[in-house]
Amino acid sequence: MSKAFNIVILPGDGIGPEVMAEVRKVMKWLEDNRGLSFDIYEDNIGGAAYDQYGVPLADHTLEKAMNSDAVLLGAVGGTAWDNVDYDKRPEAGLLKIRKKMDLYANLRPAIVFDALVDASTLKEDIVKGLDILIVRELTGGVYFGEPRGIEELPNGERRGFNTQTYTSSEIHRIAKVAFEMARKRNNKVTSCEKANVMESGKLWREEVTNLHKSGYSDIELSHMYADNCAMQLCRNPKQFDVIVTDNLFGDILSDEASMLTGSLGMLPSASLGDDGRALYEPVHGSAPDIAGKNIANPLATILSFAMALRYSLDCSEEAELIEKSIQNILNNGIRTIDIMGEGCKQVSTSQMGDALIKEMAK
Ligand code: IPM
Ligand code: MG
Repeated sequence: MSKAFNIVILPGDGIGPEVMAEVRKVMKWLEDNRGLSFDIYEDNIGGAAYDQYGVPLADHTLEKAMNSDAVLLGAVGGTAWDNVDYDKRPEAGLLKIRKKMDLYANLRPAIVFDALVDASTLKEDIVKGLDILIVRELTGGVYFGEPRGIEELPNGERRGFNTQTYTSSEIHRIAKVAFEMARKRNNKVTSCEKANVMESGKLWREEVTNLHKSGYSDIELSHMYADNCAMQLCRNPKQFDVIVTDNLFGDILSDEASMLTGSLGMLPSASLGDDGRALYEPVHGSAPDIAGKNIANPLATILSFAMALRYSLDCSEEAELIEKSIQNILNNGIRTIDIMGEGCKQVSTSQMGDALIKEMAK
């Protein structure tokens, strides 16, 4: 029997626990049928951790995460914690685990499954066959830059401020990931910033260009202002292969890209650091409006787990099995409400998990 994978599961808030329960089903199935073995440690993060520990990420949780083969995260946030101090809000727990684990490379693939072509609000010929990868820098930029704060001015006004900052090494390491990924795909990288108005963007463009010259000239590199990229993503998304961009633009562009695929409920992500540190989470949030109703789409979280199998656990066969089975059940018209289409069968969160297990067993 091979050794057990050390997995930390952090379901979080809102729909997090519901969608993560479906991942647990898939894990159990892989244990029973594929000889894999998972040593699971589960804990709270976000608002749930604030309620239990008084902080959105407890030290002991972080330590477990640091020493795991992979962290699987659901989602954080909710209106219940709206009045909590900024540094203790659910989102602060997520930012802290990203930063402390130094998970600088956030991979957000946007793939349009044929069966879901009509779930997109865009025309079929624009999105059919789409397969792009957004590589978002995750531990720098305005999310973490200092100084930051809200101050009182002498004239009685208040002033809020944040700092956008990138060093050349931060830019190099994320651009390197993008180039390496492009080599396994279609050899094209589009780097996005606002070099026309921001010094950090100018440096970004220069450093990406430098790295390209010094070892990646086989890759087709182009630069694009982030606002133009947002527009091009809905005008002609298939022009892209890999998009590399900073933390804030990556946040925005990946939400936009998710809608090309039909639903935010379909987009997985992997956040990778050096030395095998990795966290996997859906791109969607905690969706408090539908939490507890057993209607959320668990596929983004399950697809994130598939990414964990591929990138952290060296189980690409099992990853493919999951992805292929998801494709099949979608082809068979099985849908959660967010991707519901004409003539399809609407299922709940748990029924979607069950349908997947049944398909995997075939
Ligand atoms: C995401 C989310 C987070 C972010 C929030 C929840 C802090 O929107 O992962 O895209 O802004 O990074
Ligand atoms: Mg986001």
